[in-house]
Amino acid sequence: MALCSSMRAHLALLLCFCLLLSGVNGRSRKLYIVYLGDVKHGHPNDVIASHHDMLTTVLGSKEETLDSIIHNYKHGFSGFAAMLTEDQAKQLAELTEVISIEPSRSYTTMTTRSWDFLGLNHQTPSELLQRSNYGEDVIIGVIDTGIWPESRSFSDEGYGPVPSRWKGVCQVGEGWGSNNCSRKIIGARFYSAGVAEEELKIDYLSPRDANGHGTHTASTAAGSVVDAASFHGLGAGAARGGAPRARIAVYKAVWGSGRGAGAANTATLLAAIDDAIHDGVDVLSLSLASEENSLVPCTPFRRDRRRGQSLYYYGKNSTGSSFKPLAFGGLCTADSLNGTNVRGQVVLCASADSFPVALENVLNAGGSGLIFAEYTKHIIDATGDCGGIACVLVDLTTALQIGKYMVDASLSSSPVAMIEPARTITGKETLAPTIAAFSSRGPSIQYPEVIKPDIAAPGASILAAMKDAYIFGSGTSMATPHVSGIVALLKALHPNWSPAALKSAIMTTASVTDERDMPILAQGLPRKIADPFDYGAGHINPNRAADPGLIYDIDPNDYNKFFGCSFKKSVRCNATMLPGYHLNLPSISIPDLRQPITVSRTVTNVGEADAVYHAAIESPAGVKIDIEPSVLAFNATNKVNTFQVKLSPLWRLQGDYTFGSLTWYSGQKTVRIPIAVRMTIYDSYADVA
Ligand SMILES: *[C@@H]1O[C@H](CO)[C@@H](O)[C@H](O)[C@H]1NC(C)=O
Ligand SMILES: *[C@@H]1O[C@H](CO)[C@@H](O)[C@H](O)[C@H]1NC(C)=O
Ligand SMILES: *[C@@H]1O[C@H](CO)[C@@H](O)[C@H](O)[C@H]1NC(C)=O
Ligand SMILES: *[C@@H]1O[C@H](CO)[C@@H](O)[C@H](O)[C@H]1NC(C)=O
Ligand SMILES: *[C@@H]1O[C@H](CO)[C@@H](O)[C@H](O)[C@H]1NC(C)=O
Repeated sequence: MALCSSMRAHLALLLCFCLLLSGVNGRSRKLYIVYLGDVKHGHPNDVIASHHDMLTTVLGSKEETLDSIIHNYKHGFSGFAAMLTEDQAKQLAELTEVISIEPSRSYTTMTTRSWDFLGLNHQTPSELLQRSNYGEDVIIGVIDTGIWPESRSFSDEGYGPVPSRWKGVCQVGEGWGSNNCSRKIIGARFYSAGVAEEELKIDYLSPRDANGHGTHTASTAAGSVVDAASFHGLGAGAARGGAPRARIAVYKAVWGSGRGAGAANTATLLAAIDDAIHDGVDVLSLSLASEENSLVPCTPFRRDRRRGQSLYYYGKNSTGSSFKPLAFGGLCTADSLNGTNVRGQVVLCASADSFPVALENVLNAGGSGLIFAEYTKHIIDATGDCGGIACVLVDLTTALQIGKYMVDASLSSSPVAMIEPARTITGKETLAPTIAAFSSRGPSIQYPEVIKPDIAAPGASILAAMKDAYIFGSGTSMATPHVSGIVALLKALHPNWSPAALKSAIMTTASVTDERDMPILAQGLPRKIADPFDYGAGHINPNRAADPGLIYDIDPNDYNKFFGCSFKKSVRCNATMLPGYHLNLPSISIPDLRQPITVSRTVTNVGEADAVYHAAIESPAGVKIDIEPSVLAFNATNKVNTFQVKLSPLWRLQGDYTFGSLTWYSGQKTVRIPIAVRMTIYDSYADVA
């Protein structure tokens, strides 16, 4: 890891590689989540004992097991978190009961950077507020840095008794007595196992919030109405949460600084979620970002949506027509390659400085090929002479995909690569010049078949509680609890709706224009009209979400069909699964459209029983879309309809994403989903998995 930290200083990209690849060579122990499937019934102690027995079969002794296991999960799913070496993790994966093993990742509280959208005001959801009785008796679980119970936002004045279905606890600790729970803060727990000592030291060993983040988000989601709240007189007025009468359950799983591997990790968050499910929480609010799983640490790149799908190759002797072992060369300095044996191998380099230097070092080390993570533009010419070996430039996204492939492949066999001779791509097939499109999020690197983000919500200059006072916060952290608060209101109105149905209602009713019908802009350089990679389905519109007309629902079992696991390929966790665009999401994203693709969607009528909906299509540029059938009729017995969306590329194009939408309309109701399509011709790396 010393190597990693020095590299980190050089280039954020390498952090990602380090994290991806550190698991390959490390003999040291890491925290893993072992997933065993649905909840096992039986006494909790028996479930825990069975986890211990299973782990002991691999570790050899009861003592080692007790030293290794950090959390047991038994309410939301069955499993545990344990410190394991790579070999132990692989041995566990062999057991038939084990469905998957994934490394625990670290999380960070979302920052208070400026929100992406301009000129948007929080629309007061007055109608929905009244109909849902201000979220009364909905329980919002806030998984964050804890809470400050003395804040006026959490006064329980005028509240009825705690809902009888509540099964949570009030866990006492430093600066937190049992009287800190109330009719507003109905429960509180904290999770310190596996958290770094230095983070615990600067915090209260209790649900009390030293950081402030959790208090701000909790009061934004469910703070009671506080008159005359202000920050030094600014923004004076009533402060209140999205669902001001909802009850709050506190799960402190983020500690101290709120950032970094020591402050929060998957294992701890899952322990909190597991308890929240047991306790009877209705809505979970997490204002956290994964540090490793996304490109967030790779800030220099994440805004650049350019793709290195095009292939640049020059090698007159065509080394490229067969698979060669693939090696990770790090920075590909003389030092980093010294001592590694890359002779005859294709080397993946991520260098901040220059392509020629990396090339020279790879040539000196006897490499037979070079995959260079492109950092600066306009270096394509440099590939004109690669000293006789095959070379190719790829962008960060592709480089990360290769890195992921290397991790996966190294577990079963050895990673290999083939660099094929270049093909000439004429002007018509390229989208040139590529315009850097600035946006803070999408597409999802891990799952490009799913449009991310889902939704935009107010997040700028949100006045909310911090200890005993009120401060302004801006950022995703502030937007998330708005959505949580709105979900709580919708849940109060529609108690039987699934999470997917609630999400569908929010997404299909979102606005893509402001009140003046002007398009929403995305901040950045240059400022531009926002697209689904900036705002997902659009800006949240709570009142419309209360009556969405149709919903795109998802059977929870369906998720298993789309998401593979890195350790194990079983029926439940199968890496060769259906592409994600077949999941019944209220969005469609096709990251590689070459041939016509047909996806199917199913909608459920939750509005008037007798309704006829018509399809309206806004095709992404260069794509033809056909909907079959284009009219959906519902009645009292026929509440569910399925339709097909056929997307056909009009051109052969190595393109970038273009956007469109599908709207079902019936009278005043419009049910809109975003569509993102990227036409491609070539893969930029061989798919041999
Ligand atoms: C919370 O508990 C602490 C410690 O018992 C106590 O000093 C404090 O007054 C309590 N606050 C509230 C709001 O009850
Ligand atoms: C490679 O490492 C060895 C041993 O550390 C050192 O003697 C040698 O000078 C290094 N070569 C280069 C090219 O840095
Ligand atoms: C191609 O291979 C030949 C013989 O192996 C070698 O002499 C020549 O330099 C190579 N050409 C290039 C461009 O590297
Ligand atoms: C994985 O999924 C594919 C496609 O659904 C299926 O054909 C295959 O049998 C599955 N493999 C396993 C091991 O379940
Ligand atoms: C509802 O629609 C279905 C399918 O269109 C039709 O077969 C059925 O007769 C209708 N039922 C009623 C009560 O109208």
